[in-house]
Amino acid sequence: MSRSDRFLKACRMEETDCTPVWLMRQAGRFMAVYRQLRERYTLLEMFKTPEIAAAVTLQPITAFELDAAIIFADILLPLEGMGIRLEFAEKDGPRIHNPVRTDADVAALRMCDPEECLGYVLQAIRLVRSEIDGKIPLIGFAGAPFTLASYAIEGAARNFIRTKEMMYENPGTWHQLMDKLARTVTAFLLAQARAGAQVLQLFDSWVGCLGPADYGEFVLPHCRKIFLALKDAGIPSIHFGTATADLLPLMREAGGDIIGVDWRTHLDDAWRRIGPDRGVQGNLDPVTLMAPESLLPRRVREILDRAGRRPGHVFNLGHGVLPPTPEDSVRILIDLVHEFPSRVISD
Ligand code: CP3
Repeated sequence: MSRSDRFLKACRMEETDCTPVWLMRQAGRFMAVYRQLRERYTLLEMFKTPEIAAAVTLQPITAFELDAAIIFADILLPLEGMGIRLEFAEKDGPRIHNPVRTDADVAALRMCDPEECLGYVLQAIRLVRSEIDGKIPLIGFAGAPFTLASYAIEGAARNFIRTKEMMYENPGTWHQLMDKLARTVTAFLLAQARAGAQVLQLFDSWVGCLGPADYGEFVLPHCRKIFLALKDAGIPSIHFGTATADLLPLMREAGGDIIGVDWRTHLDDAWRRIGPDRGVQGNLDPVTLMAPESLLPRRVREILDRAGRRPGHVFNLGHGVLPPTPEDSVRILIDLVHEFPSRVISD
């Protein structure tokens, strides 16, 4: 089985020769080649130049035996097209200069046509596909409405107080904001699929700050619309969040062929809560890649044992790969995952 089959088959919950593996944030600072290129450009220049974004997407694919590529972009980019002034400050991460706080702020947000506002991402996808077609599948992605709303509302701080304030005090405004974000995200994801992305991941990275009741009322209906549109278009999808142990059944209800699970839950417990008819992605703690050598094989094996070689497991970290991660640890991790079936047999 080639690298091209494994990941797509797992997304369809079909048997594979071994578990497919890719890493969130695999295109980025843990790689020396990325850091070298990054010295010459700002982050926005890199995202907005399709040739550079395509080259960065391919860096980890060239260096490691990964089973999928993910396009180099950022979840916050669609906010720009909606009228939000976005900056990636060199030290502090993303900052928003005109946070969305009032009914009028929400009303002023424009709907962003992906071809017009995000054409550079679509072009990068076309370039990557022409390089790797038939070799390895390409993942497109977008931020989920809640996670995007939390950035749009908070600006830089991330204690979610203002986000929840809008949710509780102005539910009408909140739902209007979520609806605008969900429609923008849906159009962007479908455009990525048309440009050549074969699987789409929705990042709801911060949704774990909500309890199940708030998730069900304020988030689920919006995510469900996105996943229904992807299902109608026939594109496999991954629904990712962190700190979501108690939200997993609701995330399943919202949609996604594969549900992302972080390291705070045992994989088999999570899978039980999600249900056997969906796949799971995860769930190694990213810090394990920096721990003493003997830990990594134990933790990888534990996850694979808990997955029990059931079809529909995509191996990944529970969140993005951290910048100080040694490249060799990533190499070792990928080998461990791929060699697992033969190891079990030879034990
Ligand atoms: O996974 C990949 O390799 C594809 C590229 C990718 C980036 N951002 C590039 C990036 C993806 C999938 C993202 C998603 C993203 N961006 C999320 C959701 C996933 C997650 O990690 O929770 C979020 C919350 C963001 C917002 C964001 N972008 C933050 C908070 C930061 C600063 C903190 C950080 O990690 O640096 C960014 C910047 C960013 N986006 C970088 C990269 C490679 C850092 C680049 C650099 O400084 O050189």
